[in-house]
Amino acid sequence: MDHFDYVNGAMHVEQVPMAEIAQAVGTPVYIYSTATLTRHVNVFRDALSRLDDPLIAFAVKSNPNGAVLATLAKLGLGADVVSGGELLRAVAAGIPASRIVFSGVGKTAEEMRLALDHGIFQFNLESEPEAEMLSEVALSMGKRAPVAYRINPDVDAGTHAKISTGKSENKFGIPYDRALESYAAARDLPGLDVRGVAVHIGSQLTDLAPLEAAFIKVGALIEKLRAEGHDIRTADLGGGLGVPYDPSLPVPPLPQAYGEMVTRVTQGWNVRLMFEPGRVIVGNAGALLSRVVRVKQGAQAPFVIVDAAMNDLMRPSLYDAWHDIRAVDPSGARETANVVGPVCETGDTFAMHRDMDVVKAGDLVAFMTAGAYGATMAGTYNSRPLTPEVLVSGDKWAVVRARPPIEALIEADIIPDWVQG
Ligand code: LLP
Repeated sequence: MDHFDYVNGAMHVEQVPMAEIAQAVGTPVYIYSTATLTRHVNVFRDALSRLDDPLIAFAVKSNPNGAVLATLAKLGLGADVVSGGELLRAVAAGIPASRIVFSGVGKTAEEMRLALDHGIFQFNLESEPEAEMLSEVALSMGKRAPVAYRINPDVDAGTHAKISTGKSENKFGIPYDRALESYAAARDLPGLDVRGVAVHIGSQLTDLAPLEAAFIKVGALIEKLRAEGHDIRTADLGGGLGVPYDPSLPVPPLPQAYGEMVTRVTQGWNVRLMFEPGRVIVGNAGALLSRVVRVKQGAQAPFVIVDAAMNDLMRPSLYDAWHDIRAVDPSGARETANVVGPVCETGDTFAMHRDMDVVKAGDLVAFMTAGAYGATMAGTYNSRPLTPEVLVSGDKWAVVRARPPIEALIEADIIPDWVQG
């Protein structure tokens, strides 16, 4: 459920007309709804209400905007970070270090030092060399780092190959079959407090079965680890729950069903459970608002050329992702059209042969479900400044990231004397 609704025929975000934001800020622009964020946090938390003090660590990569993070911090969420930059953004937004977990295969010694300095809740380690490095860094600071190993359960998440992370051929985690050896080696590292198990098998999962299979493997491993004397106190079940993009497809499992499965599978584990949801919190809380530049006749269908492009929303060109595209002031008429951006490559295509509202030059269109992995993945290809972001709450709205002037791009380049010569 979201708070992008038509009121008197015009799309609003909560109580704010989309057109008002387009008028004031220009397009393209990302727009987020506080009410939807809040609702999703509450729904996710309620789904886990039978667990004892779960740690919900929002996957910052899905939407690192400071105002979004601060909203989630106020709602009590922690953060799952994958870089020193994300850690600093989470802390700056008011997320306490005691609710931060650090994931990722490539943490550097510098990032480890930063995280230890802040006193984060846990590091999720992904390899033995990483464990050795963290131990050394921690010892050099006179600390012991709280760690879990992320295991690779060799489970097929059934999602797009580029966002699948739990198959044995993927770069993530330690192989399940070698886990006992890795844990034994980590126990001998004096800078580590080995206290958890972590798993994350992929994103946009539309079936609970692979998640359940992975969690069952985590449960079995916890038992084996305890039998070998490891004091396992945390289990991080990652993120990955999918959201509805295409209204013609079955709705992915709701948080309630996910929570019931988790509650059932983890019964008796006797650990603090951790979660790293990203998309399910922010996906439907955001839309990318864009204006139609012109409509051009195509061989088979008209090309609707909008002022948003693949650099603003990469998901369609990167994963063939499907985003609903709606007219902000629909006339009621429908047609089959292609929706493309102005960037000079064919991959800059948002939709082909899409049954959609008829739109004309100057009309506003909204790309729905763009709150997760939208602005955060934007770039400046074709010298297009980064997309601004707006946060709405009730009848209030604010620019929470301004559109940088093109001069900022130009001035960032440094031209050496010998070129200017
Ligand atoms: N935890 C870890 C360790 C992760 O790698 C991820 C996402 C998450 C949690 C959050 O997953 P979520 O709940 O959002 O599914 N750019 C892609 C998605 C990449 C996901 C990367 N990892 C997309 O646009 O679909």
